Amino acid sequence: MEGVTIVDHPLVQHKLTLMREAKRSTKGFRQLLNEIGMLLCYEVTRDLPTEMVEIETPLTHMKAPQIAGKKLVFAPILRAGVGFLDGMLTLVPSARVAHIGLYRDPETLHAVEYYFKAPSDLADRLTLVLDPMLATANSAVAAIDRLKERGAREIRFVCLLAAPEGIEKLRGAHPDVRIWTAAVDDHLNDHGYIIPGLGDAGDRMFGTR
Ligand code: PRP
Ligand code: URA
Repeated sequence: MEGVTIVDHPLVQHKLTLMREAKRSTKGFRQLLNEIGMLLCYEVTRDLPTEMVEIETPLTHMKAPQIAGKKLVFAPILRAGVGFLDGMLTLVPSARVAHIGLYRDPETLHAVEYYFKAPSDLADRLTLVLDPMLATANSAVAAIDRLKERGAREIRFVCLLAAPEGIEKLRGAHPDVRIWTAAVDDHLNDHGYIIPGLGDAGDRMFGTR
């Protein structure tokens, strides 16, 4: 699939299987999402450019690599995207955060915005949009539309599970935005849920239902 990276690392796949299980506790689900967030962050930042800088070790001088160029913005889509945030900020503590509040209207499945707050210098940063679930992609497309309106030019989308329908829609609407996901599931059901999926990620993460 063009523009889609499936992160098939055994640790990610193992943890995803644990998360899919209906019996997993809220605490366990949240912990696993945090851990997978770290692992996905590692993969999505794999090609960041580095530059050589002069440093002093206790014994001598040397040139050593450090990350160059654009700084990162993590843009979680509320609520479930927040589940990735802590893990990713652990790896990239200097990143900025853009919060995007969206919920799916249960009848139309359209995304309804209720909050948006982003750094003002999005144009100068690489923005990683975070949401565990890419179902119809209505939420992802709406979030990316808003980020682009506010100046973001380089955007990547990170999720845990994607439906084929969501990938097609997101790639069609924003072909410049590449997708990182741990798995591509089979299909969406009549209510827009990913099958086999893991249920409602926000509810499972926060214990609401
Ligand atoms: C869920 C999920 C995504 C969205 C994906 O959020 O966290 O944001 O649905 O579906 P889509 O691709 O069809 O737009 P939801 O609207 O349930 O809000 P919540 O995270 O606050 O529960
Ligand atoms: N949102 C979720 O949380 N789960 C799905 O399967 C689809 C949308």
